[in-house]
Amino acid sequence: MYMNRSFKEALQHRRSYYALGSERLVNKGDIEEMVEFALMHVPSAFNSQSSRVVMLIEKAHRRFWQIVKDTLQARISPELFVKTEKKINQSFASGYGTLLFFEDRSVVQMMEQKFPLYAPNFFQWSQQTSAMHQLALWCMLEDRGLGASLQHYNPLVDESVRQEWGLPSTWELVAQMPFGYPLTMPSVKSHEPVLERMRVFE
Ligand SMILES: Cc1cc2nc3c(=O)[nH]c(=O)nc-3n(C[C@H](O)[C@H](O)[C@H](O)COP(=O)(O)O)c2cc1C
Repeated sequence: MYMNRSFKEALQHRRSYYALGSERLVNKGDIEEMVEFALMHVPSAFNSQSSRVVMLIEKAHRRFWQIVKDTLQARISPELFVKTEKKINQSFASGYGTLLFFEDRSVVQMMEQKFPLYAPNFFQWSQQTSAMHQLALWCMLEDRGLGASLQHYNPLVDESVRQEWGLPSTWELVAQMPFGYPLTMPSVKSHEPVLERMRVFE
């Protein structure tokens, strides 16, 4: 069901969903449209537009999580792998798709050369614009009734992912967002007192 929430409502409802099903709540085209929308409208430093998003659905999504499992299995103890595999199977691979957020290093380097005065800032700014894309898409997915979470198996899987989907060598993976049918509600979240985290002056 399409919620058509206000921006504040969409921000408020965004949560991490860890139990996902693969039911096709939203069609592929609508998710593509969300990705295009985020890439068009999320800001970037000096309008550098360094963010790249790869949308993996169904078979490609399952392939991604198989790559993550194969990579981890080769690196961690069998006991730890059993737990990790269970989590990946129930919370990530079990969903409908995954968004991969990359930053294009070639754009960041170009900006560093073009604006030497700000050169030390461009890497951070690139991570910040990526985070803005992540939040925008997390909210848009949730707004359409999907559950999503944010994962970080980079940089372990970067090279395999670039090879699998023929992506440019300059695309660096920043975050992975598995999404799908939300099977359980997130638990209640604690909040540090808001008034201790802000100051207002007139
Ligand atoms: C920058 C950032 C990195 C995060 N990395 C992970 C992660 O690697 N794995 C994970 O399960 N959740 C990750 N999270 C999700 C947070 O744990 C989660 O957003 C937080 O506990 C608040 O819960 P909520 O998303 O349900 O509001 C990350 C969130 C942010 C903003």
